[in-house]
Amino acid sequence: MVTAARQPAPAQDAARAFPEDFLWGSATASYQIEGAATEDGRTASIWDTYARTPGRVRNGDTGDVATDHYHRWREDVALMADLGLGAYRFSLAWPRIQPTGRGPAAQRGLDFYRRLVDELLDKGIQPVATLYHWDLPQEVEDAGGWPERGTAERFAEYAALAADALGDRVSTWTTLNEPWCSAFLGYGSGVHAPGRTDPVAALRAAHHLNLGHGLAVTALRERVRADARVSVTLNIHQVRALTGSEGDADAVRRIDALANRVFTGPMLRGAYPHDLLQDTAKLTDWSFVRDGDLRGCHQPLDFLGVNYYAPTVVSAADGTGTHTSDGHGRSAHSPWPGADQVAFHQPPGETTAMGWAVDPSGLYDLLRGLSAEFPRTPLVITENGVACDDYVDPAGQVNDPARIAYVRGHLAAVHRAIADGADVRGYFLWSLLDNFEWAHGYGKRFGTVYVDYPTGARIPKASARWYSEVVRSGVLPA
Ligand code: NOJ
Repeated sequence: MVTAARQPAPAQDAARAFPEDFLWGSATASYQIEGAATEDGRTASIWDTYARTPGRVRNGDTGDVATDHYHRWREDVALMADLGLGAYRFSLAWPRIQPTGRGPAAQRGLDFYRRLVDELLDKGIQPVATLYHWDLPQEVEDAGGWPERGTAERFAEYAALAADALGDRVSTWTTLNEPWCSAFLGYGSGVHAPGRTDPVAALRAAHHLNLGHGLAVTALRERVRADARVSVTLNIHQVRALTGSEGDADAVRRIDALANRVFTGPMLRGAYPHDLLQDTAKLTDWSFVRDGDLRGCHQPLDFLGVNYYAPTVVSAADGTGTHTSDGHGRSAHSPWPGADQVAFHQPPGETTAMGWAVDPSGLYDLLRGLSAEFPRTPLVITENGVACDDYVDPAGQVNDPARIAYVRGHLAAVHRAIADGADVRGYFLWSLLDNFEWAHGYGKRFGTVYVDYPTGARIPKASARWYSEVVRSGVLPA
């Protein structure tokens, strides 16, 4: 998303009511919370392999045990019910449901999600299931992974298995979570699994993720309830220019193409942007896009899920910036194929434990920009949240005022975007629980519920109680 200047802050801070049917939830993902890496027939995913490779994940952390949600799911649903959540966004682990990435479903894997979903429904919490939050079965990667077309086809088969098993009880589906990370961090900079560093593979992966998404939407629609909602989640980058120069405007255009339009083009318009094809022409002629693919990618969606954490500031490269925003880890390889002439800059001001800027105006601009660009597509914020250096105090409490301030500021931005005409239907706080933060391991805590890893104990933080009030009242307090 590209938008111009920041909006002024509202003059006074009054209580703000959200629409009656606004969906309030929290989010997690399978590899980040489940653990039980070898139980009930689950095979290794690319993240198991990556995390077990020395030097890839900070402190050598893996998802082998994680928050042990696979065994503590009932307690976790009870926590959600205590908090009054209306919805819970989670992901299905492909290597649990279809361990080899082909063939029939594994009953025990499906049973886990059936039990979870039934418990959620029993407690009046709407399940929102994501099919793919980065845990590709290792066998599928061994056959070539996302750079190969076969992975898109296999993904659609897996989507059909999941829909056959859960389509009678899950009414909200998301195909992919942040395919930008899968393609460009997984195959470009290598800071995510599978850790490959090949710019052409990254572009090929992006296309096959687009195709896999489209094929999965079709598979879902054929199987799930007629009133089910089908979506995708993108981490649309809110890209801003460092200065008003022409060179910086061109840097914004390039990164907007490589981060955002590479997905919204095929998925929401049925075409790749011309400038993206031109910018990457030295690397590839895109002949891996076959006739009919773009029609396949372009399927009607009931809403677009957006994840937002911080804006991205770029300029024409002049030697002062870095080749990447470093948001997910450092690498000698750029995640931006064909964009060597772009530099990234840390915006001034407050930052989080991840080193990311705190800037709610980016979320406002993003929502307004997307609403203007895709006026018929409702939006749901499928992730927003913050890592803080949380600790348990001597009284056994976890006080996280910085998280409350972050969420308050971003919800105020959402409220303002809605008041100004953006069609935003829901908000999911990342995350319900502290969890495995990918290459950063367990050192970064995003949860509203603290997890004591040695014992697995859950301690709701002050932010959980605060968010619970917001969720129950539908009002953001002054
Ligand atoms: C986006 C990803 O979907 C999620 O898995 C991750 O933990 C958060 N961002 C925070 O980095």
